[in-house]
Amino acid sequence: MQAINASIGFDYRLWREDIQGSLAHASMLASQGIISQSDEAAISAGLTEIGDAIAAGTFTFDPALEDIHTNIEAWLVGRIGEAGRRLHTARSRNDQVATDFKLWVRNAIDATDIQLRDLMRALADRAAEHAGAIMPGFTHLQTAQPVTFGHHLLAYVEMLARDRSRLADCRHRLNQSPLGAAALAGTTFPIDRSMTAQALGFDRPTANSLDSVSDRDFAIEFLSALSIMAMHLSRFAEEIIIWVSAPYRFIRLSDAFTTGSSIMPQKRNPDAAELARAKTGRIFGALVSLLTVMKGLPLAYAKDMQEDKEAVFNAADAAELSIAAMTGMVRDMQADEVRMRDAAGADYATATDLADYLVRDLGLPFRTAHHVTGRLVAAAEARGIDLADLPLAVMQEAEPRITQAVFATLSIEASVAARSAYGGTAPANVAREAAQWQESLR
Ligand code: ARG
Repeated sequence: MQAINASIGFDYRLWREDIQGSLAHASMLASQGIISQSDEAAISAGLTEIGDAIAAGTFTFDPALEDIHTNIEAWLVGRIGEAGRRLHTARSRNDQVATDFKLWVRNAIDATDIQLRDLMRALADRAAEHAGAIMPGFTHLQTAQPVTFGHHLLAYVEMLARDRSRLADCRHRLNQSPLGAAALAGTTFPIDRSMTAQALGFDRPTANSLDSVSDRDFAIEFLSALSIMAMHLSRFAEEIIIWVSAPYRFIRLSDAFTTGSSIMPQKRNPDAAELARAKTGRIFGALVSLLTVMKGLPLAYAKDMQEDKEAVFNAADAAELSIAAMTGMVRDMQADEVRMRDAAGADYATATDLADYLVRDLGLPFRTAHHVTGRLVAAAEARGIDLADLPLAVMQEAEPRITQAVFATLSIEASVAARSAYGGTAPANVAREAAQWQESLR
């Protein structure tokens, strides 16, 4: 029974929040005249003492006492006696654990937000540095149109900004205090729930006691936001892995973020990126795990809900490591602008620019222009040359009105520079966007 029942092995991580919640509860009980001022003083001193002991690592948790709440309370009673026995007045472990866990998740959201901001700043810095560095843009991982490396990096800044805003939404919805809902029905004592809510930094108390003790939406929403964020990090990690591979070599990572092989001396493996990609599995797993735990539970509390914590801790730990690793790699990576540029010019990447020229300068309908361009790409392919190296006479066989002016549109520089409509990859746009992000993330 103890092996399956005890949660202290993982919920010890709630010790700070548990003490914080108990301090607020005791002070409210005293101010409402439910316990005496001297009992409250003894409780506060005791809780502060145990907090110091846990922080110093000198406290031993007892698995026979099931969880962090009982461990702390039992120690308090052993230390201060009778007064300690009064702490649990008008409270249950059900509202206590919901409160502690909300506080923990709220702290995790705040810490994640700081980390994400850091990663965004690193990306914006590198984007500013490489605002004009031309690389191939892909669809289907096939060369599509030239873009700039800075533009590519800023795409992730946009994703991470949405991730932060999802976390902020989650924090906002989470921020109501369950403390005082007691076991499930509320309490007969004249407590002041607004007072404890305020002391703990909540916006207000929760309105329904049954909901208060059985709600784990906040944890599920946190895991959802983390999952979407992890999906973004995983895509970026995948790109880093592609970019450092021998056929690409768009970037290089230093020894700080790569490992060697035990047999192949030339290897420089992107393990940090691979692990960030892999840790996504834990985060998605945690989300599905907690959704599954909750989906069949009748109101109000059931012990199933104790399984919420490991999932959240595990996901938060994985997210913390992954964001840190990605931030480190973004700061560390060396972009090879020459390799990127060479690849950007290959594979007829400016074919769309040619079609746009036929529309803009010669007045062809776009579908016709698309067809003419297709013929020219085939002609270049048959000769094994780039579009820009096709003789004008050959171009004119496909469309007689083409003039020398066409060649100006076929360079990759012209291609990116021309994409200056809002949101496009033109280096001037990218430099401006990067500077704005740098400014707002300062
Ligand atoms: N360890 C429990 C948990 O994490 C605390 C709440 C226990 N409540 C109860 N009625 N058994 O969920």
